[in-house]
Amino acid sequence: MKKVRKAVIPAAGLGTRFLPATKAIAKEMLPIVDKPTIQFIVEEAIASGIEDILVITGKGKRPIEDHFDANMELEQNLSSKGKLELLQLVEETTDINLHFVRQKRPLGLGHAVLQAKAFVGNEPFVVMLGDDLMEDEIPLTQQLINNFEKTGSSTLAVMDVPHEETSRYGIINPESEISKGLYNVSDFVEKPNPEEAPSDLAIIGRYLLKPEIFEILENQEPGTGGEIQLTDAINTLNNTQRVFAHQFTGKRYDVGDKLGFVKTNIEFGLKHPEISGELKDYLKDLAKDL
Ligand code: UTP
Repeated sequence: MKKVRKAVIPAAGLGTRFLPATKAIAKEMLPIVDKPTIQFIVEEAIASGIEDILVITGKGKRPIEDHFDANMELEQNLSSKGKLELLQLVEETTDINLHFVRQKRPLGLGHAVLQAKAFVGNEPFVVMLGDDLMEDEIPLTQQLINNFEKTGSSTLAVMDVPHEETSRYGIINPESEISKGLYNVSDFVEKPNPEEAPSDLAIIGRYLLKPEIFEILENQEPGTGGEIQLTDAINTLNNTQRVFAHQFTGKRYDVGDKLGFVKTNIEFGLKHPEISGELKDYLKDLAKDL
C-alpha cells in the first residue's frame, strides 16, 4: 500500500465572511493571537508525517509564500539585537517542503482540489482546510492516516454538530459503524436543512483521498451554491470504492466563522504564556459589566 506523504491546503476561497479583512489577503493568513491559521495546519501536517505540502492559492498569494520563506533582513535584525527567541519563531517556518499552485477562478473546493492533480500523481493524499483547527492527543490527520493503513480506503473526518447547524456542513448518511467511530457511509449530502439531514455527523476540514477522485472532479458539474463541490465528487467515488468516515472526538476550533475566530483567539490567548494572566484579569473585569 502506498504511503500518505502529500497534503493539499486549499486557500483560494474568497473569504467573504471576513471582508474587508480578506479584500487583499487570504483568510488563512489571519492570525490566532500571533500565528496565521495556515501555520497551525502546516504544523499538523508535519506532526502527522506529511513530507510535501501544496497550497492552492488565489488572491493574496504573496503573503502566504513570504510567510514560509526566509526573510534575511528580519533575521539579521533580530540576530544583531539578540532577540533569539523571536529569531527561532521566524526561522522555524522556512524549513518545510511547500509548493504553490494558483486556482485562477474560485469555482469551488472541488475545483481547488483538482488543481493538485499533477502534484499528487497516483498516491493517496490528504486535504486540509484552514477553516478548522483541531486539537487531540494524536493529530487528526495522523488519525486518518492510521485508519488508511488499516483499511486502504478514502476516509473523511466527521464530527457531531448541533442538529440545527446541519445546513452549514456536508453531512454523512451513516450505513453502519464498522468499528468504534469508523462508519461505512451510504451517501454524503451537502448542506442539508435540519429536516432533511440524515444524521448530525458533519464533514470537518480533513479528508484522506485516493487519487481516483481527480477523474471524478474533472467531470464534476457545479452543485450547491453553483460551486464545484468536493462532497459531490466524494459521493461519486463512494459508488465505486469504499469511503469511510472517521469520527473526531477532540477539540475543533471553527476559525472560518467570525464568532468562532474571535472565540479561538480568546481561548488561545488564555493559553499563551505571554498574555494569559493579564487576559484572564481583563476578561473577568469585562464580565462584571456584561
Ligand atoms: P469556504 O466554503 O470557507 O469558502 O471554503 P471561502 O470562500 O473561503 O469563505 P467564505 O465562506 O466566503 O467566507 C472552504 C475552503 O476551500 C477553499 C477556501 O480557501 C477554504 O479553505 N476554497 C473554496 C478554495 O480554495 N477555492 C474555492 O473556489 C472555494
